[in-house]
Amino acid sequence: MRIHVVDHPLVAHKLTTLRDERTDSPTFRRLADELVTLLAYEATRDVRTEQVDIRTPVTGTTGVRLARPRPLVVPILRAGLGMLEGLVRLLPTAEVGFMGMIRNEETLQASTYATRMPEDLSGRQVYVVDPMLATGGTLIAAIRELMKRGADDVTAICLLAAPEGVEAMERELAGKPVTVVTAALDERLNDQGYIVPGLGDAGDRMYG
Ligand code: PRP
Repeated sequence: MRIHVVDHPLVAHKLTTLRDERTDSPTFRRLADELVTLLAYEATRDVRTEQVDIRTPVTGTTGVRLARPRPLVVPILRAGLGMLEGLVRLLPTAEVGFMGMIRNEETLQASTYATRMPEDLSGRQVYVVDPMLATGGTLIAAIRELMKRGADDVTAICLLAAPEGVEAMERELAGKPVTVVTAALDERLNDQGYIVPGLGDAGDRMYG
């Protein structure tokens, strides 16, 4: 597993406003959308392409287009929904699947309440979006499900990650073709499983 922390002043600027407790829901949603587009630029660096011959008004030339099968984008409901548009703006031909997952606030165990995506993901590149990588339980379970269906390359795009969650993913998904792209690696988790300094509960701040 690889982790890539995007180091860019615009990312840091938008993330700071997201963290600010005074930021209201409409602004939070808009910033999360903008931020994921910036992260997606990095996250799609290895998206598969194939050569294509075209003609410009001047001459023939060779370029690239996204390879088949199309990439699959999977937002983890609820909060990941707020990141979907920002990603498909860059990958408009991607297919979209959905996973609904909830973390028990006491045990911190993740469970899945909805899944809607192709049964067969053989040979597919998958982009999972979820704002928070806290204990890692949610993303580990989601990525296991994607790999069980045959996905052979998974990139998770998160706004924030905690070291505890990254370590859990490295342990549980060792040797797997998984990349995590995040705007920041924060200090730690607190006793309630919240990322510190974090930005609070992303789902509540978007939709609460
Ligand atoms: C939050 C967040 C992640 C998960 C991270 O979702 O959006 O999905 O928790 O926690 P973990 O890394 O410890 O598993 P939540 O369960 O609050 O659901 P929501 O998106 O519906 O608010």
